[in-house]
Amino acid sequence: MIYLGADHGGYELKEAIKAHLTEQGIAFTDCGTHSAESVDYAPIAKDTCDRLLSDSDKSSLAVLCCGTGIGISMAANKVRGIRAACCSNYFGAKYTRLHNDANVLCLGGRVIGAGLACELVDVFLHTGFEGGRHQRRIDQIAAIEESYK
Ligand code: RB5
Repeated sequence: MIYLGADHGGYELKEAIKAHLTEQGIAFTDCGTHSAESVDYAPIAKDTCDRLLSDSDKSSLAVLCCGTGIGISMAANKVRGIRAACCSNYFGAKYTRLHNDANVLCLGGRVIGAGLACELVDVFLHTGFEGGRHQRRIDQIAAIEESYK
């Protein structure tokens, strides 16, 4: 399952991504927002990430959009177990799966267009984690998280 969330700054981009996923027959859950009316991004990030982490299918991923992609990624990264990457280029979207095992892709609706965003979503969804030495680094990130419990 792909979980989608956005504030008003990312609403249009989320709608474009929904259309793109629908065309490909990829299942998604839309966690809001459901209009271009102003709304805070942190609660949407938390709700989307909580739903992702509650999914028994551990291959599930999420895509979050706000104006820059930055605020919503900061909020998402406060959720234990979330590795959110704010990307605006293909290389980053690919390597954050390969090396960081990112489980959330964050995009800026005021930064990139829908065409590029959909390409970033595609590569993010279809690239797997490489493991190996990168697992050790992911474990070190988790250890930092745990040290602040
Ligand atoms: C909302 O105006 C905007 O601040 C938000 O979408 C996002 O860009 C924050 O990082």
